[in-house]
Amino acid sequence: MYLNCLNSFYRMKNRKTLTLGIETSCDETSAAVVENADVVLSNIVASSLKFHQKYNGIIPEIASRAHIESISLVCRQALDKAAAKIQDVDCICLTKGPGLIGSLLVGVTFAKGLSLAHNKPLIGVNHLEAHLYANFLSQGNRTSSRAYIKPRPPFIGLVVSGGHTNLFYAERDFSFKILSSTLDDAAGEAFDKVSRILKLGYPGGPYIERLARKGDPRTLKFNCQGSKGLDFSFSGIKTSVLLEAKKSGGSIKAKRNIAACFQKAVVDTLIEKSLRACMRNKLYTLVVGGGVAVNRYFQGRLYQEARLKGVKVFFPDKGLCMDNAAMIAGLGSRLFRRGIFSNYYLSPS
Ligand code: KG4
Ligand code: ZN
Repeated sequence: MYLNCLNSFYRMKNRKTLTLGIETSCDETSAAVVENADVVLSNIVASSLKFHQKYNGIIPEIASRAHIESISLVCRQALDKAAAKIQDVDCICLTKGPGLIGSLLVGVTFAKGLSLAHNKPLIGVNHLEAHLYANFLSQGNRTSSRAYIKPRPPFIGLVVSGGHTNLFYAERDFSFKILSSTLDDAAGEAFDKVSRILKLGYPGGPYIERLARKGDPRTLKFNCQGSKGLDFSFSGIKTSVLLEAKKSGGSIKAKRNIAACFQKAVVDTLIEKSLRACMRNKLYTLVVGGGVAVNRYFQGRLYQEARLKGVKVFFPDKGLCMDNAAMIAGLGSRLFRRGIFSNYYLSPS
């Protein structure tokens, strides 16, 4: 294994590197091929979302079974679309966590099998750090503005997904230090729960965002500032929303205002804590990632308020905000360049 890593590492110094990424942390089975740590040649995503929607949340057992059914085909499609063979790939990168244990196990086991069968180095990648790395990718098949304007490390990273809300300090070499986490629910989870309270759909983010456009964000005072430090807390706000929803009787006007005021409170908190982290660390680049990052109201407000503080903000392309394997392959290639490999004892963490 060690010699095999070294061989690939030296070969890589003289030519392009091709990385195969595999992501199975939640309900998306994804595989991607990325060239030189930044150009996405293919990024195939198969989701089992439709099987979970009637339960208003992800059912872990259904998700892992769906991964087993589609992972082989998804990997084949990613290689075919990139016009690559598994033999051309320099390393195999996979999501090692965090995520649903059953789902992660499918990706980890499949990637180990590929690595062993084809004698390729194996690299486990942190899913949250990879969400931030999505900002450093360019789509290979079209000219993207992202190919020209990319953030530069060191930076402050904000991950806002369905399971996590974290602030990171990212070093120049793409190593990450956690600055803060959520003490209870994640921001995306709060969107999902409030959507359930308002009897909308799953996942809640897009429904709340759409409804909030017609509401007045000044009508109700919700608060999710949580701790005075940089940690987040989004569980209290859903109780306030529940009480307000009961009181208002469920008219469409009331629902719109609740959605707008809830979204504003969450966004206010995300902005205030991230900009405070930037100021405290004297870093003027803020990189955002995760499913909630597609929210246009959040994007607009953050761009506006960051500009006032001299902070440059970066969001990934829409398709790279949600779970995908391109971000895993991209960050994995960086680890490969730094000579950081995993061995066959790798287990989901
Ligand atoms: O990063 P992601 O795809 O999966 C996890 O790693 O969790 O994020 C999914 C989360 C869900 O909670 C979903 O409600 C939220 O992202 N989301 C949104 C929006 N679109 C998706 N939240 C707010 N506004 C949106 N437009
Ligand atoms: Zn995610």
